[in-house]
Amino acid sequence: MNLKINSFEQYKEQHQNSISDPATFWDGIAQTFSWQKPYDTVCDWDFQKPDVKWFLGGVVNITENALDRHLPKRANQPAIIWEPNEPNSEHSTLTYQELHDQVCQFANALKSKGIVKGDRIILYMPMLPELAIAVLACARIGAIHSVVFAGFSANAMADRINDAQAKMVVTSDGLNRGAKQVGIKEIVDEALTKCTSIESVIVYQCTETAVEMKDGRDYWWHDAINGTNKICPAEPMDADDMLFILYTSGSTGKPKGVVHTHGGYMVYTAYSFQNVFQYEEGDVYWCTADIGWITGHSYIVYGPLLSGATTMMFEGIPTFPDAGRFWQVCEKHKVNQFYTAPTAIRALMGYGDDLVSQYDLSSLKVLGTVGEPINEEAWHWYHKLVGKEKCPVVDTWWQTETGGILISGLGNHSPMKPTFAGYPLPGIQPVLLDQEGKEITEDNVEGYLCIKHPWPSILRTTYGDHERCRVTYFSHYKNHYFTGDGARRDENGMYRIIGRVDDVINVSGHRFGTAEIENAINANSRVIESAVVAYPHDVKGQGIYAYVVCDGVVADEDAARLSIIETVNTEIGKIAKPEKIQFVSGLPKTRSGKIMRRILRKVAEGEPDKLGDTSTLLDPGVVSKIIEGGL
Ligand code: WTA
Repeated sequence: MNLKINSFEQYKEQHQNSISDPATFWDGIAQTFSWQKPYDTVCDWDFQKPDVKWFLGGVVNITENALDRHLPKRANQPAIIWEPNEPNSEHSTLTYQELHDQVCQFANALKSKGIVKGDRIILYMPMLPELAIAVLACARIGAIHSVVFAGFSANAMADRINDAQAKMVVTSDGLNRGAKQVGIKEIVDEALTKCTSIESVIVYQCTETAVEMKDGRDYWWHDAINGTNKICPAEPMDADDMLFILYTSGSTGKPKGVVHTHGGYMVYTAYSFQNVFQYEEGDVYWCTADIGWITGHSYIVYGPLLSGATTMMFEGIPTFPDAGRFWQVCEKHKVNQFYTAPTAIRALMGYGDDLVSQYDLSSLKVLGTVGEPINEEAWHWYHKLVGKEKCPVVDTWWQTETGGILISGLGNHSPMKPTFAGYPLPGIQPVLLDQEGKEITEDNVEGYLCIKHPWPSILRTTYGDHERCRVTYFSHYKNHYFTGDGARRDENGMYRIIGRVDDVINVSGHRFGTAEIENAINANSRVIESAVVAYPHDVKGQGIYAYVVCDGVVADEDAARLSIIETVNTEIGKIAKPEKIQFVSGLPKTRSGKIMRRILRKVAEGEPDKLGDTSTLLDPGVVSKIIEGGL
């Protein structure tokens, strides 16, 4: 199963072929997988509806390709290496055979609790091998997993459970995060007071903290798998049957459930994994993301396992027991490919170079980044100090909706330019459009980044609301998928992602909609209305700046701020904490009542002298008060 490109020349040739004849190109790749029934048609698509299908008529199960297919050759090869939070605890390894067996056992446990093909299951778990096992067990029997990052609040989880009408939650008693333990079963219990669709909860014992187990609803993981068979046939799935739902934020208040399917997602995650990271036989690959985000789905679990790779999972955080942990773990496991987020790099840079230099990082071959634009300083630090200038840095641009990496270097086979993601992968046809939707064909230009032909892992719909999928991604520019990002293309055709052009804020690589955070803030009893914008933040990339109108004068601003932060914790989770909260008497609005965010953004960015045209404001006096009170 070698899908790898070995030179820039070969890349150019493949990219050209993939554009002139996409069906033949993807057919060649898809043929290398094992299909229960071959497909008749490679791709059928209509971006207007949208209706995108890949590998029509094909029957497949992604887990057969990620597990069973490897057993003849790799039964005893490590599939997952798990590194615990606590550096003195033992790490563990699951071979492909062991992973296969445990996935089958848990899949049988799910069946015994009444789960059938098509049921939705929420996974709210720490970074334990059991999370990967649960993901694969769902896929094994055709249940649809929806992983909810274990930092989201009970309310946020309840929203997702209700939207998906999920039947089961899989969780743990608690989780370890650095020096802290956090109880998470209790968060599930609270969420379930707002949900009626959940029939059962499976609880993995992780921290051994006391939890309440509700009779007839809650089951321990170890009891559930006790005595289950290690064989569980992979459910035959149509190529475009749902594999998972992953909720992500957009410009409206409610997160949407991005849907990916078995066939196309399988082909693209494996293909992109092998090419971007140039994984070689025997390598140890480590992506530091959480499986609660798309990066963990595609490049901890599916992409690597589909490729027969050894993938590492890390339970802890980069700064525990100190800020050298990543590098200590790289040395310990002789990591060959290391994939992390710019925000982590920026945070670690601040702790000094010794924490990196003291470890032997000579095993590293490729370094990757994902989730947000990387600044020059962080790029050079990563390249020099971590990679010793011998490892290519692949700056991978993609989205929850794209399922896999679309623009990136391919190991050391592509030219590298700091802060540029680079060239599109084969099969990807990016274009830059102007305001009017006209394609900008010259180079050295900026525009709205769109894609004009589908690739196998493009989202198929947003769960339960196809119209929302159409409006969000396919209605801005006819016959194009709109990414929501702005980008620059240089004189050599390389792409640099500038950032979101919609109302999405990217905090430490986590996406939030401004409306989503405003809704959370507005849930505070003292708040009348609010407006949220992003401002540049040294470590997080962007921080959340909230302008808040309260019921009357706020006497104790610090107390009111704490109270609002607490409300946001409850509504979304700590990850959405507004960094700055400014109390204002009114928001700048146009005569039609629309909040002029451009003005708020300029004030938040510390450039109140660059407000631009304010003549359409209903009450220009509001603005000077906001500037005076600026934080
Ligand atoms: C941003 C994460 C610049 C971008 C995989 C995108 C990036 C959003 C990069 C998707 C990158 C992701 N350079 N920006 N290499 N990668 N982004 O859905 O704004 O969590 O639209 O997927 O992150 O975030 P998501």
